[in-house]
Amino acid sequence: MNLTLFGANGGTGRILARQAAREGHRVTAVTRHPETFPLRHENVQLVAGDVTDPAVAARAVAEADAVISTLGVPFSRKPITIYSAGTAAIMRAMEAHSVRRLLCVSSSATDPATRYHDTGGGFLFEKVLKPIITKTIGRETYADMLRMEQSVMASDLDWTIARPSGLFETDSVTDYEVAEGTLPLQYTSRTDLADALLRAATDGLWVRRTMAVATVDPRPRVMDLLRQEAFSRG
Ligand SMILES: NC(=O)c1ccc[n+]([C@@H]2O[C@H](COP(=O)([O-])OP(=O)(O)OC[C@H]3O[C@@H](n4cnc5c(N)ncnc54)[C@H](OP(=O)(O)O)[C@@H]3O)[C@@H](O)[C@H]2O)c1
Repeated sequence: MNLTLFGANGGTGRILARQAAREGHRVTAVTRHPETFPLRHENVQLVAGDVTDPAVAARAVAEADAVISTLGVPFSRKPITIYSAGTAAIMRAMEAHSVRRLLCVSSSATDPATRYHDTGGGFLFEKVLKPIITKTIGRETYADMLRMEQSVMASDLDWTIARPSGLFETDSVTDYEVAEGTLPLQYTSRTDLADALLRAATDGLWVRRTMAVATVDPRPRVMDLLRQEAFSRG
């Protein structure tokens, strides 16, 4: 398949690009920083630029059978629009080129109806930490993810919205869980998320449905997770 990846240079995007190329798919990887993109592979072509640039989005999706977006930015108290504006730009380009299959990533904490579902994190996490994060530093992120979800769901595309929990790293794909809506689990390995997106794209799964993705085992220790997210990722 021809797969276009927005966010290809991020944590999940790099894993997904590598795995898709290994499986023989032709990958168009979009990044604003091609010089830092680590993967060189005959099946991977780079498109450099910002997703909100219509010419970039158009060039990236022109030949696509499926478009996968793992676009993201860190939490911020300033207005965040990349999820909704970036995905709107992708959808416009897809419409112009008659591309129908879109997979994008939001979060298990996005939907107000399910934001406070119990993820099994215990009293401190569920009743103290999670509400603080979603109402303060995560507020802009989740509001924009929700705008993205609503516009994607309102489209007539063959969409899938993946909802991972807290992301962390594993060396390989685990025996992860997928379910419609939400899962009572706190963490998702980026390798598992990449695999779930790739399987859904290539096997035509979860069309016009939300796909919660969560890792059961291993579970990261909170201190390791903070260290990894804060210091280790390039
Ligand atoms: N971190 C978590 O615990 C968590 C939990 C739930 C859901 N999520 C979501 O899961 C997804 C994957 O997360 P991740 O941590 O693997 O990704 P990430 O490392 O944050 O990568 C996101 C990528 O998006 C690209 N990007 C951002 N703005 C762009 C723009 N204007 N134009 C083009 N590209 C742009 C960046 O690539 P360039 O700078 O190279 O352009 C960046 O590498 C994200 O949507 C994230 O919000 C994260």
